[in-house]
Amino acid sequence: MAEKEYTWHKLADSITELNFSSVGLAEVELAGKKICVVLYKDQLFACSAKCPHAGGNMAEGYTDALGNIVCPTHRYKFSLQQGRNSSGEGYYLKTYPVEIRSDGVFVGFEAKNFFNWAK
Ligand code: FES
Repeated sequence: MAEKEYTWHKLADSITELNFSSVGLAEVELAGKKICVVLYKDQLFACSAKCPHAGGNMAEGYTDALGNIVCPTHRYKFSLQQGRNSSGEGYYLKTYPVEIRSDGVFVGFEAKNFFNWAK
């Protein structure tokens, strides 16, 4: 399978610029997309701001000790690593790669162009 290609968007100059809640979650808008950024055990993750179940606001949820983000609405759990619905309801939360580089914090959105689809 072809490797995914990403378009990288700068989120901030550094982690300290991000306005995390007391449980390490922040909702931000990046390139017209609302995403939830998560600081978990000194690592950054990013996922869709909307729960795939019924649109709960993930940034108002919390994380558990196993590395899941928990939706505040019905408490379904999703792996921060790959969005797998670890509480077993069969949904999938979109996740995005995050890179901390010398010139800032970047989030990758899958590049959507014809050449990627054709691969
Ligand atoms: S809206 Fe998130 S679990 Fe139902």
